[in-house]
This record gives sequence, C-alpha cells and structure tokens, in this order.
Amino acid sequence: MSTSPIVSIDPEVARARFLKQPFTLNHGLADHPLFTLPRLIELAQSMPGDRIEYNSGKVAVGVKPEDVPRIDKSPAEVIRSIETDNAWMVIKRVEQDPAYRAILEAFVLEANRAAGRPTDDCSDLQGFIFVSSANATTPFHVDMEENILIQIRGDKFVHTFDNADRSLVSEQALEISPSKHRNLPYGELFEVRATRHALKPGEALHMPYVVPHWVSTGTTYSISMAMTWKTREVLRLNKIRTMNGTLRRFGLPQSAPGVSPLRDAAKVVTHDAIHAVLDPLRKSEAIRNFLRGIIYGKEANYYLQTGAKRAGM
Ligand SMILES: [Fe+2]
Repeated sequence: MSTSPIVSIDPEVARARFLKQPFTLNHGLADHPLFTLPRLIELAQSMPGDRIEYNSGKVAVGVKPEDVPRIDKSPAEVIRSIETDNAWMVIKRVEQDPAYRAILEAFVLEANRAAGRPTDDCSDLQGFIFVSSANATTPFHVDMEENILIQIRGDKFVHTFDNADRSLVSEQALEISPSKHRNLPYGELFEVRATRHALKPGEALHMPYVVPHWVSTGTTYSISMAMTWKTREVLRLNKIRTMNGTLRRFGLPQSAPGVSPLRDAAKVVTHDAIHAVLDPLRKSEAIRNFLRGIIYGKEANYYLQTGAKRAGM
C-alpha cells in the first residue's frame, strides 16, 4: 500500500485500473477545515453565480433535465439548511480559490505518483464540491475528465457502468456542447450492469474518463469533492468531441474519435485556433454567458439562477 498523509492507494490495483476502470482508495482530508459548512458558505459567496448549480435532490435517476425542480433560495441559504432540506448543490471550479487549489494539486499529483503515473501528464486541474442533503440523487451522467471523488462527510453510493459500452451512452451523448444538460437518458435495465461503491468519510472512488454513473446520499447530509484532471489523451478526445458537438449543432454530424485520425487531427487544430481567439474573452461571466448563448442557444445557460436569487447570497 502506498500511503501519504492525503492519499493511500494499492499500487497493484492502480497499475491494473488507474485511468481505465473505477476502484476505491483512501484519503486523509475528511477532517480538513476547508470542508466545514461555514467555510463552504464563505466559498459559495465568493464564487460567480455561474459556478454554482443547485436544485432539489429529490429526483429520479433518469429525470429529464427540464423536470429537475429548482430551489428558490440563495446558495448560502441552501448550504445553511442542508441538514433539513432536500437539496443538491455543486460548487464548480473551486481551484480558483488558492486554498482549495493547493489541496487539489497536492492530491492529484500524489495520486498519480502513487499509481505509478508520470506527474507531468495532469493538466487543467479542477475541483467540484458537492453538498447534498440526505437521500439526494445525482442523476445518470458522464464526466469528461479523470476524477477521484473523495468523501468528506456522510455516506455516498456511487453506481458506475462500463465506459466503453455505447449501448448505455451513445457517442452522440458524449459530444460536448454547453446546450446539453448533464443528465443522460437512463433505462431501468441499465442497473443490472452497475457496480455499486459505498463510500464513507475517508474513502474515495477513482472514476476514469466518461465512466457513466449516478449517485445517491445516505441518511445524513453529504459533503464530497471531485478532484479532476485531464491527461493529454483526454484533452485530445475532448477537443474532437467539442468540435463534433458544435458541428452537429450546425447540421454537420461527425464520426466518433478514432474513426478518421486525419479528420481528428484537423478538428484539434481548428479547435485550438478558435480557442486562441475566444479564451481571453471568457474571463468575464457576462461574456461567457453571451458566448454560450450565441453559439449554443439560450438553453446553454439553463443552470443560471435569476439575478435576484444570486444577489440574495
Ligand atoms: Fe459525476
């Protein structure tokens, strides 16, 4: 067992499964002061409105995006009443706060080292903190990055599925477009193909790129953090899938990554050229929302709460 103060991981399991299949490990961040409710309220109040998403946690695994009930409260109020409400919240991109960035970097590099991986193939480190009430559900979806979900408080049950099975999640569903809601269609028959991981504080689950999953909390509220990063291969696949999603929006559906290496390479070059122009503009929340709206339609901003609610933080 490779053990450090923040991550402990079985090297043999890691060699066989890291970046390929889910497996559980242990972490040492369960009592870290950055994860107390008062500190999380402070964090939520410091974040721009489009970095916080929340809704009722009382939803079905396969709920349609438009049927997810909203909560008419500010993010701070949602966290304050997390013990008594039925709420689900994610605070996105917490690496923008230097204190959270420090533990994220330390954790991801240590996990890669412990798994026998080079530490120079982890970029775009991002952190997502989930604060959810008892018996809340995160519906079926995939994430487009490498991920270790660390459990801080309460129980979490993560149901994972094969990330190579396109009968569960189609290639079209893997295309990246801000106009898509994260939730994916879910069939009751999928469940027999699930692996269920029960996480307690101090435990963590590695979920590689595009592993389909859905999550539920136990009988008390839960705090967890997704520590995410991208390898060079994930960056390449995401560029192709972003171009495929954008071209589909303009009526030009494309083949999956890997079908034509030449076309894949052209998409990567085009993607980089577009982003060289757009990225400097995306620093402002207003411009981010505007660009999402004109390129992907107004539904791309589906998760934004009203200005009044945000102002009430
Ligand atoms: Fe997820």
